Amino acid sequence: MNAIEVHGLRRVYRARTGVLGRKVKQVLAVDGIDFGVAQGELFGLLGPNGAGKTTTVKMLTTLLTPTEGQAHVLGWDLVREADQIRSHIGFVFGGERGLYWRLSGYDNLVYFANLYHVPPQMQKQRIPQLLELVGLEDRGDEKIQGYSRGMKQRLHIARALLHDPEVLFLDEPTMGLDPVGARELRNTIRDLQSERKTILLTTHYMFEADALCQRIAVINRGKIVAMDTPAGLKRHVQDLSVVEIETFGIPPEAVEHIRTLKGVDTVSVENRDQKQALLVHSGDGAASVAPVVNTLEGLGLRVGSVVVREPTLEDAYVRLVGGET
Ligand SMILES: Nc1ncnc2c1ncn2[C@@H]1O[C@H](COP(=O)(O)OP(=O)(O)OP(=O)(O)O)[C@@H](O)[C@H]1O
Ligand SMILES: [Mg+2]
Repeated sequence: MNAIEVHGLRRVYRARTGVLGRKVKQVLAVDGIDFGVAQGELFGLLGPNGAGKTTTVKMLTTLLTPTEGQAHVLGWDLVREADQIRSHIGFVFGGERGLYWRLSGYDNLVYFANLYHVPPQMQKQRIPQLLELVGLEDRGDEKIQGYSRGMKQRLHIARALLHDPEVLFLDEPTMGLDPVGARELRNTIRDLQSERKTILLTTHYMFEADALCQRIAVINRGKIVAMDTPAGLKRHVQDLSVVEIETFGIPPEAVEHIRTLKGVDTVSVENRDQKQALLVHSGDGAASVAPVVNTLEGLGLRVGSVVVREPTLEDAYVRLVGGET
């Protein structure tokens, strides 16, 4: 049995519009998704802003009712058996608040353990173990007002594990952390896997999904557009080569025009410091360099370095979400 099983899950929000907020508009956030997560698997839901990741996690953690479709967590029905699900899962939402900053890390965990009815005897054993698991064993006695953002986020993970849930949902766990904090947190997530937890993680960082997840579902505009292992996603772009052209101030019309050139698959623009990089995915390899450069120069744009390289997992992602990242 899969730990998580999702069939045709949909969610429509009613958003208020108009100056007085009296009009109501329907927003389709999750548009009929299907997937399964095996017990002990670390599964990634990867997608750009607004793709429907948080909405999916909120439904699976019973915080939001689905508009349509079914899902089971550990065999329990999401809607009819929400209470059972709640007592067997843990979740952490990115940038989440809700810790008590005047209390130490340890006492925060005691507070939540009482809330979750973890018996005191078990708390004494479990809290030090959890502090160690998230790398806070030396800092547990300090008030969390002095914790860094990454430390707080790791304490949140410890908090989510207090009742020893079998399934853990992490919504953008490394959001807002610096590279070092993010790396430490990813190590913590890897350690959780050795505790044989099933983990569903959302992220919009391709490399994070690649580094952590056994399988990845790419979600865009509420739909799953691909689901595979990181290696499988890479195979999806084997036939592509990527032309990276450094440029400055490229207008949207030029991007549109380049999209229509022969052999061009997807086009995207990345902002890098003062410059821009135009990424052209092409089945024709180096043959598409000249027409693209000609187009840019024809518009009077400055062209810097031009590189033709092998596709990466990031490119697979860009291709899947149609270059609109
Ligand atoms: N409470 C709400 N009311 C109306 N629309 C909403 C609400 N919450 C989310 N949405 C819309 O649903 C869609 C999906 O949002 P969601 O937060 O699930 O995306 P996400 O993939 O988590 O994005 P991000 O990477 O920005 O966190 C978006 O279009 C969003 O604007
Ligand atoms: Mg989100």
